[in-house]
Amino acid sequence: DETLEGSNNLHYKHTRRHLPQCLVIGVRKGGTRALLTFLNLHPLVVTAPNEMHFFDDEDNYSLGLDWYRKHMPFSFEDQITIEKTPAYFYFDYVPERVYAMNSSIKLLVVVRDPTERAISDYTQIHATKVLKNKPHETFEELVIDEDTNDIRRSYTAVRRSIYHRQLEQWLEYFPLKQFHFVSGENLVNNPYKEMYKVEEFLNLPHRIQKDNFFFNKSRGFYCLQMADRQKCLAESKGRKHPDVDPDVIDKLHEYFDNHNKKFYRMVGRNFGWP
Ligand code: A3P
Repeated sequence: DETLEGSNNLHYKHTRRHLPQCLVIGVRKGGTRALLTFLNLHPLVVTAPNEMHFFDDEDNYSLGLDWYRKHMPFSFEDQITIEKTPAYFYFDYVPERVYAMNSSIKLLVVVRDPTERAISDYTQIHATKVLKNKPHETFEELVIDEDTNDIRRSYTAVRRSIYHRQLEQWLEYFPLKQFHFVSGENLVNNPYKEMYKVEEFLNLPHRIQKDNFFFNKSRGFYCLQMADRQKCLAESKGRKHPDVDPDVIDKLHEYFDNHNKKFYRMVGRNFGWP
């Protein structure tokens, strides 16, 4: 199927490029690549290989929907096209633009313990510096305000972990029933079960199988068993996190607690984060 993807023009008869009927809008570091890769197992799903940053990037958006569509893979009429850009969830001008394209679009959001997500975000941003042994600030230095000794609320890794604020922006345009929330924790621990629910949300017949997944001990994650090969996500997925001062972890848990409760109430589901 890979010949159908991306800018490659090779395609089957009776296929064409369609605008997405479903978007994976976030959250950054929630497990969005895993979700998209697993969705791609389904014969009735096609996925855009790259994050398009269409709705959040002014330059891309100004190129118009036809430009966006031309970056979608070829698909048959009965297939669903899905694009993922985790930045969509965060920026307040995005929901209106998505609504203008398709007001009945389905929206997938992978959410993860906000403390873990923040550390993962930090780890991603500093990964190259760490690898190249370049000086970099510690997570603690960034996340704690040295004057107040409290959580630094302006730190983007903290702000991006406050899910109810971001969801609120989206609920101004889309009803809750157009969203499905994937538990990032369940996606790691039991991808088959979590994907079963995603198939249901997308009104797809169940095609993703239990034995599509196998646990890879050296990676510490589930990988995919395809007909002819095995596939794990890139090494950049599942990075080792730094050891964070337990007092800082406690502070983060305390800080996010009320935000998490608000988010649980909003979506009517408790994700069980600490
Ligand atoms: P960490 O690197 O913090 O462990 P995203 O694709 O949104 O950037 O999310 C990256 C996260 O996906 C990783 O965060 C990892 O925990 C998670 N993930 C979920 N399932 C995975 C899998 N099967 N293989 C690798 N990473 C997976």
